Amino acid sequence: MTEALGVYVHWPYCARICPYCDFNVFRDRGRRAEQVVLKDAILADLKAQAQLTGDRDLVSIFLGGGTPSLMDPDWAGEIIATARKLWRAAPDLEVSLEANPTDAEADRFTAFAAAGVNRLSLGVQALDDEALKFLGRDHDAASARRAAEVAARAFPRLSIDLIYARPDQTAQAWATELRQAMDWGAEHISPYQLTIEAGTAFDRAVQRGRLIPPSEDLAADLFETTQDVLEAAGFHGYEVSNHARGEAARSRHNLVYWRGEDYVGVGPGAHGRLTLKGERHATLAASRPGDYSSRVAETGTGLISDQTLTPVEAAEERLLLGLRIEAGVTFGEVAALGLGPDHAEVRDLVDLGLLVADPQRLRASPAGRLVLNALTERLALAI
Ligand SMILES: C[S@@+](CC[C@H](N)C(=O)[O-])C[C@H]1O[C@@H](n2cnc3c(N)ncnc32)[C@H](O)[C@@H]1O
Ligand code: SF4
Repeated sequence: MTEALGVYVHWPYCARICPYCDFNVFRDRGRRAEQVVLKDAILADLKAQAQLTGDRDLVSIFLGGGTPSLMDPDWAGEIIATARKLWRAAPDLEVSLEANPTDAEADRFTAFAAAGVNRLSLGVQALDDEALKFLGRDHDAASARRAAEVAARAFPRLSIDLIYARPDQTAQAWATELRQAMDWGAEHISPYQLTIEAGTAFDRAVQRGRLIPPSEDLAADLFETTQDVLEAAGFHGYEVSNHARGEAARSRHNLVYWRGEDYVGVGPGAHGRLTLKGERHATLAASRPGDYSSRVAETGTGLISDQTLTPVEAAEERLLLGLRIEAGVTFGEVAALGLGPDHAEVRDLVDLGLLVADPQRLRASPAGRLVLNALTERLALAI
């Protein structure tokens, strides 16, 4: 058994750009030649980065975006087969693909399954047509439902993304949407609170007073509704925005991030984290598809930065990510920050019920995860 490794592949094209989204995305203008060049660059980058990592147990491949379900399924097959050859594929290797729930994409799900995808992450976002219009989506609730049905048949594992804390959303209506979504055959649900990201169309609308996001109190109520409704149905919240029906349904890929394991990032704008000779490296690839492909042609990899994190920076990252999951982070991993079970701030936060009393691990309680930002700020100030 060597160290676990995840592979993140960023496919940056989308049919249209949603007004809330600040991911590294570009309109898909159907330029197949440009996309073939990008796919080949991704394959070359995988090979180059495998030289850095050496032999590892490949536990997850995540084709994210953007909208990788717009990619030719044969290309997904090439990427998956290449990664499987470069590293030692774990017997239970998770291969996820993000998809938008349009009928056209659902028609290709079987081909993606044949290409080696075994887990689909479907961006349903809302089950209400008005809300889908507000979110600028190019599908309605009926097509999302059809796509979920096709996906549940085509893939062994299905996850559904939803966005809540939309303007004027009530806790009651949200609970109804969650209950409906749970009937669609998913083993995993990721309900994300709508975030107004700088530079997006929603951000401009908020600044002009045309969009008023819910108050913090209402957003907190909706978060609690989410936890209550999903927990009651057996979807356990193992992370702030991730709920799974049983341990095996947890996203192995997300666990790679939250546990501080290594992952290779390929594709435009992809981030990676690699532990090389005991040092933690943060890698970043060129953002624009053309720049990424040129970079690979010139240097062999698409990376534009490979920064070695100091032990304190690495521990700070472990703290931020580890507190998001139920299992938390070991005190050993955050030793560079001077945090231990007897640290005064840790003891205070345990007394307040925001951290769990655990001599081995720093773990947020459910109440702590509700106010995670405030909790991490308090810890950061105490370091
Ligand atoms: C980058 S998208 C890729 C998935 C796919 N393209 C889609 O839109 O369905 C991954 C997920 O991030 C979430 N997301 C993106 N921007 C968000 C925002 N501003 N607030 C909350 N969730 C967001 C959505 O739920 C989305 O499904
Ligand atoms: S939410 Fe998905 S489809 Fe919309 S712009 Fe972002 S990545 Fe593309």
